Amino acid sequence: MSHHSPNDLNAFWMPFTANRQFKKQPRMFVAADGMYYTTNDNRKILDGTAGLWCCNAGHKRPKIVEAVQKQVAELDYAPAFQMGHPKAFELANRLIDIAPDHMEHVFYTNSGSESVETALKIALAYHRARGDAGRTRLIGRERGYHGVNFGGISVGGIVNNRKFFGSLLTGVDHLPHTHLPDRNAFTRGQPEHGAYLADDLERIVSLHGAETIAAVIVEPMAGSTGVLLPPKGYLERLREICTRHGILLIFDEVITGFGRLGAGFGADYFGVKPDLMTTAKGLTNGVVPMGAVFATAEIHDAFMTGLENAIELFHGYTYSGNPIAAAAGLATLDTYRDERLFERAADLASYWEDMLHGLKGLPHVIDVRNLGLIGAIELEPIAGKPTERAFNAFLKSYDKGLLIRTTGDIIALSPPLIIEKHEIDRIGETLSEVLGQIE
Ligand SMILES: Cc1ncc(COP(=O)(O)O)c(C=O)c1O
Repeated sequence: MSHHSPNDLNAFWMPFTANRQFKKQPRMFVAADGMYYTTNDNRKILDGTAGLWCCNAGHKRPKIVEAVQKQVAELDYAPAFQMGHPKAFELANRLIDIAPDHMEHVFYTNSGSESVETALKIALAYHRARGDAGRTRLIGRERGYHGVNFGGISVGGIVNNRKFFGSLLTGVDHLPHTHLPDRNAFTRGQPEHGAYLADDLERIVSLHGAETIAAVIVEPMAGSTGVLLPPKGYLERLREICTRHGILLIFDEVITGFGRLGAGFGADYFGVKPDLMTTAKGLTNGVVPMGAVFATAEIHDAFMTGLENAIELFHGYTYSGNPIAAAAGLATLDTYRDERLFERAADLASYWEDMLHGLKGLPHVIDVRNLGLIGAIELEPIAGKPTERAFNAFLKSYDKGLLIRTTGDIIALSPPLIIEKHEIDRIGETLSEVLGQIE
């Protein structure tokens, strides 16, 4: 509309953002390189969050830049249905090479949310394909984050992401979350207490009957809710109960995939085998939207029956396996491999842990949690003003040249895996200052 100036901020309704606060006090990135963003007022900001948990190789990585530039000039788009292009197949093979051994197929999406919807639909259709059409229930977990689409918020357990949006999917139940601060506060790595929380699945099974349950979906390590770790033995027990009752286990690896924990995937790190894995984010280093659902041969093959000319799964996206995304994915995997970034994350994990736990005892800090190159600092909320203290920490950190992320009163950190020790030190120093200065 003509009365808007070109830089009017009002037209863009921003996602998961306090729009009115932002537009009074905008924070704009105009460039990025390696571990640093550049702001519109030309300040360098250390990226403590790999964008949104996605730029695992850091920013402006030469191989990825070049691959995307080349691809857009060569084949910009190819139809995703009934047609193919070589890079989508090449990337699928490369993904299977680095995935846990039992994963043999990938289905492309464009985001974590779409990967979740895809995995839930595959789970339902798998049981149906095998003549087990009564298995329609989906089990998620309190405080789980599985993106923002209807399936994902139905199995998800973040209250504000659900309560405004109607009645959601039916036939969904939730496991309890695994956060036990009274017993596990300030644990380094996986907590000792809480494996028994997986046994709640037995309660849900006896309530509904196993023959009605299609799948359980959990993040192997819950990220977006504020970094809640699986207690030792918990995921193993969940796997065992699912197997015993013929229930599929889906790991939502949108954050834990691609090296974040110092292993390819959470399934590798924890040594537990899910039936389906959802991924996105680090798959293309965040550069082009892309997600992938990994499936076992058993699941995939259950669909490959009937007439050969018939479509086996009525699901897909216009951009499934998009050529530019596939090129970005291939160059991203090359970068991870050539720079040994997953190993690098594993090597740095204990230094990272020491920095984080060094913040214990600072004002407001009621818990510190860590795993791989992930960390969380939980703050005591200001009475009557939940989220305010952490949001102030976010604003002050940004003023001091550090990007952090907050959910509720929890600060979450997940730097690119290329981070150097002196940058880890700087995160610690900046946060100490910030925690001393905020209300
Ligand atoms: C575990 C998990 N699943 C799904 C999603 C949704 O991904 P997207 O924002 O790409 O839809 C996220 C995003 O943070 C996530 O952490």
